[in-house]
Amino acid sequence: MKMKELLLFLSCVLSVSVDGQHSDFHIAGCSDSYGEDVYGLDGEEVAYADFNKQKEIYPQPPFVDPMDYPGGYEQAVGQLQICRANMQNSRKGMKDFPLERDAPSAVMIYTKDEVEFGEENYLICYVTGFYPAPVNVSWTKNKEKVTGSSINVPYINKDGTFTQISRLDFTPQLGDTYSCKVEHLALTEPATKFYEVEALARSDPGVGPSVFCGVGLTLGLVGVAVGTFFLIKGNECS
Ligand SMILES: *[C@@H]1O[C@H](CO)[C@@H](O)[C@H](O)[C@H]1NC(C)=O
Repeated sequence: MKMKELLLFLSCVLSVSVDGQHSDFHIAGCSDSYGEDVYGLDGEEVAYADFNKQKEIYPQPPFVDPMDYPGGYEQAVGQLQICRANMQNSRKGMKDFPLERDAPSAVMIYTKDEVEFGEENYLICYVTGFYPAPVNVSWTKNKEKVTGSSINVPYINKDGTFTQISRLDFTPQLGDTYSCKVEHLALTEPATKFYEVEALARSDPGVGPSVFCGVGLTLGLVGVAVGTFFLIKGNECS
């Protein structure tokens, strides 16, 4: 009976290639507790339905000519109902077949850009290889819970498992430790990955070379002075 709330039923995965150059996709899926409806291009999200905010969200970068799907949210709500009805039918027909469950095969934590102390950056928690969707991801900084992270909608992999990427804005300070905690129903306890801001980050790239140059120049000038001194002394002797 557990399965009731767990089953994620993938009703539609559509992939169209144009001259093998671009891949356009639409994923609609549901479980009793979760639903997803996302349009994408070349692996990137173009639009998805946010069933909590009850509207279509367009997570597109500022440089694109915005693409929108008028009526997209209403259509997604319809799809979700169809998906749940199909799921009930399958469940009845298959006599409550057991749910497949795969724990995440990989959880990785890393920064978006090279770390510079005091410069804004993002921490990324990349979770892949799980089924069904979704995972819950939560973050800590120095063991205290932090809020303000965001997570994308589950993205389906070629093997039918899912990937989700959570992102946290952060400003690296030496010694700070971050963690991302991943919960999934196939995990008996959460998977946690840590990130520590280490000293190997460059604090100010200008300091090293200019100190080196300064010391070199000073030694050179001392050499010239000493040389001149002996040259003069030598001349006096002869
Ligand atoms: C994720 O969080 C939601 C809301 O707190 C909770 O209902 C759900 O059980 C959690 N899922 C997992 C796999 O822990």
